[in-house]
Amino acid sequence: MKRILMLFVALAAACAVMAAECVIVPRPVSYEPQKGTLPLTSKSVVYVADKSLVRPATMFCDYIAAENGLQLSVVEVAPKSKGAIRLSIDKSLGEEAYELVVAKNGITIKGGSEQGVFYGLQSLRQVVLHSKGDDKKAVECMTVKDKPHFGYRGGMLDVCRHIFSVEEVKRYIDILALHKMNRFHWHLTEDQGWRIEIKKYPELTKVGSMRKETIVGRNNSNRYDGKPYGGFFTQEQVRDIVRYAAERYIEVIPEVDMPGHMVAALASYPELGCTKGPYEVRTRWGISREVLCAGRELTFEFIEDVLDEVVALFPSKYIHIGGDECPKEAWKKCPDCQKRIADLGLKDEHELQSYFMKRVENYLATKHGRSIIGWDEILEGGVSKTATVMAWRGADRGIKAAQLGNKVIMTPKHFCYLDYCQTSDREGNNEPLCGGGNGKRQLPLRKAYSLDPYDQLNAEQQKAIVGVQGNMWTEYVPHFNHVQHMILPRIAALAEVGWSYGNQNYEDFARRMHLLRKLYDKCGYHYATYFFKGIE
Ligand code: ACM
Ligand code: ZN
Repeated sequence: MKRILMLFVALAAACAVMAAECVIVPRPVSYEPQKGTLPLTSKSVVYVADKSLVRPATMFCDYIAAENGLQLSVVEVAPKSKGAIRLSIDKSLGEEAYELVVAKNGITIKGGSEQGVFYGLQSLRQVVLHSKGDDKKAVECMTVKDKPHFGYRGGMLDVCRHIFSVEEVKRYIDILALHKMNRFHWHLTEDQGWRIEIKKYPELTKVGSMRKETIVGRNNSNRYDGKPYGGFFTQEQVRDIVRYAAERYIEVIPEVDMPGHMVAALASYPELGCTKGPYEVRTRWGISREVLCAGRELTFEFIEDVLDEVVALFPSKYIHIGGDECPKEAWKKCPDCQKRIADLGLKDEHELQSYFMKRVENYLATKHGRSIIGWDEILEGGVSKTATVMAWRGADRGIKAAQLGNKVIMTPKHFCYLDYCQTSDREGNNEPLCGGGNGKRQLPLRKAYSLDPYDQLNAEQQKAIVGVQGNMWTEYVPHFNHVQHMILPRIAALAEVGWSYGNQNYEDFARRMHLLRKLYDKCGYHYATYFFKGIE
């Protein structure tokens, strides 16, 4: 009997330790369990000391109602009773930092700004879900002090290869917010479809947003589905999405990819191409040799007009102007492009691309006060010091850019491309068709987690790394459930690299992922289950 009792005590102690373990993803800077619990019921209130906190507080109540069935309410008058959740801004904390204290007499969240409070609420959301009880939750007492390592924590969505509804884009943004990510990079223009309404150029959406059919299966299948495909976002819808993201402290960075990946624009306005067409919106994936003519002024007028409208829709500091995968064959044969090279005394077509990107950067800076991001190809032929480089082909490109003194966002494909397969044994696991060297490359959760954005950089160069990003290319991802399958749970790994760098531990992350999965379930997210089944 005594032995059974001792076993019981030991088991109870083990459970208590387990219950006191941190449940928060991404991992906070410091987490200290305290003794006792706080009861949370539908009578509990969220008190906001500052009017600006009403919105995040209301959003938190909505999360708690949907995920736990508890209907909390927001109050702006300090409650006399114990047990309230008290939110306030404490400017002595960093902008995105927060402190969360769960004590027996109440919960307090202080944030360095509204955004910091919002992150504290995201952490509390996870804590509440894992608290015992139904109508009366027993929230474990704890002290959490937290702030992100990197200021830029992004997720990209390609809506060109396949388009998604406004509601689906908002869901993508919800997923970013849950993981405390703060940038949504929206890839809006491509060879296979132009997806943003530009009032001055109506053909972009009349012609450029539709392709006549789509390749079936891999890019070399030579089979097409025969079905017209397309769509676009109106300016009204874009504004709605930008607003929705801002309410979740996420800045939307639009990408207008140039001078390559522009076939949809060329199909709409053939005079923008070196051969002047005819062109058609591309129906298969890969890289097109047809690109914007860099020799004629008309091209720059077009780009400037488009960017004028884009800038008016997106208040972001950065505008992404692409720059990737621009073959130079058309420029080599084009008299206008060759004349530009000769007139400017440029060495070659790489320098012509550099001229193109710098000219557009200069326009955005002088006319609109915006900065640019470009894919790492902008390093070729010379890059301006003020451009931010998105390193995608490999971390080495980011290292090179950092050594040059440019700001860098790390999104090396081997760690950050969420269109890559998630398991090695794809046949056995029935993974859907995926990208990455025709599906040859794999990116399991563990590998995404192992990204080291500072690898090989000295202390000075590390300062150039502003953050990390996961990229969701959608050639093989036609539906939003499939998008979720690709980004979840890997986006959590990248979020933890971005937020918790220097404080990471894969085993502990894996433990917390099993808990976060319950939140994904509550939200109805269609996450991939390979990791949860122990498959890599
Ligand atoms: C890219 O993957 N072409 C940036
Ligand atoms: Zn040309």
